[in-house]
Amino acid sequence: MTQQSDTTADSVGEVYDQFADAGASTAMGGNIHVGYWDDDDPEVPIAEATDRLTDLVAERLALRPDRQLLDVGCGIGVPALRIAGAHDVRVTGITVSQQQVTEAAARAVESDAGGRVSFRLADAMDLPFEDVSFDGAFAIESLLHLPDQTPALKEIHRVVRPGGRLVIADLCQRQPFTGADKEVLDGMLLMYEIAGINTPEEHHARLAEAGWELLELTDIGEQVRASYGHAAAAFRGLAGALDAGAAQQMNAAADLMEAFGGHPYAGYVLITAQRS
Ligand SMILES: C[S@@+](CC[C@H](N)C(=O)[O-])C[C@H]1O[C@@H](n2cnc3c(N)ncnc32)[C@H](O)[C@@H]1O
Repeated sequence: MTQQSDTTADSVGEVYDQFADAGASTAMGGNIHVGYWDDDDPEVPIAEATDRLTDLVAERLALRPDRQLLDVGCGIGVPALRIAGAHDVRVTGITVSQQQVTEAAARAVESDAGGRVSFRLADAMDLPFEDVSFDGAFAIESLLHLPDQTPALKEIHRVVRPGGRLVIADLCQRQPFTGADKEVLDGMLLMYEIAGINTPEEHHARLAEAGWELLELTDIGEQVRASYGHAAAAFRGLAGALDAGAAQQMNAAADLMEAFGGHPYAGYVLITAQRS
């Protein structure tokens, strides 16, 4: 894993507090993750494409009504509400951003599925739940913020029942970025408070270290690639309303997003694991 080293729950939380304040996920329907396009449907809007990614995660969770799920890194609650609504399950979301908890709770009040979700401030490295409290868990683009993923994967393993699933959707490096390309990657890590981006082999190894059995790991990088351009355009749009310093920062974030997203080594994995 290319390590940025010193992200903390607080430093990541600050970034997402600012992100929520800026309304940066509005164009993505409130999802803070990539969209998914099949080869024949590039015209699908980004908000719909991001919901599709959530649906791909839900499909892999083997859901039945009333199952209890943990959403590790829940953002502003949009994926949790979608899954709770579509599958009649209960979802507890955690995030390290108080702003996100507040916004997710407000969205729950407005949603038909609101009674089946709850959101709280908590760190994936130290989950405030009893052993075996959940039937399954999902983590959409959250593990990459953790300076050491294995303890968090062990924590999730502790709170999920035997036989329960963990579905991860996350960035990956198909091969390690090197040379000038590594500057793009390092810039991306710093800008977005990312601790590191695993290769597929590292994803597998960390899961195994934490006691998870890998059922599936698929690289859908080409189906999500358009997301980076959409996100960059949204950031540039937001920059117009900011003061000069903040606008420069937002435009730099957009440039990095595009450079990373256009790189052939930038992949994206969908992983299904099971607790034995
Ligand atoms: C890219 S956002 C994804 C949000 C959400 N999964 C989605 O798809 O809309 C990353 C999320 O991970 C959360 N996160 C990062 N580090 C965390 C940690 N140590 N414990 C819990 N959540 C964390 C952030 O607060 C944020 O909600």
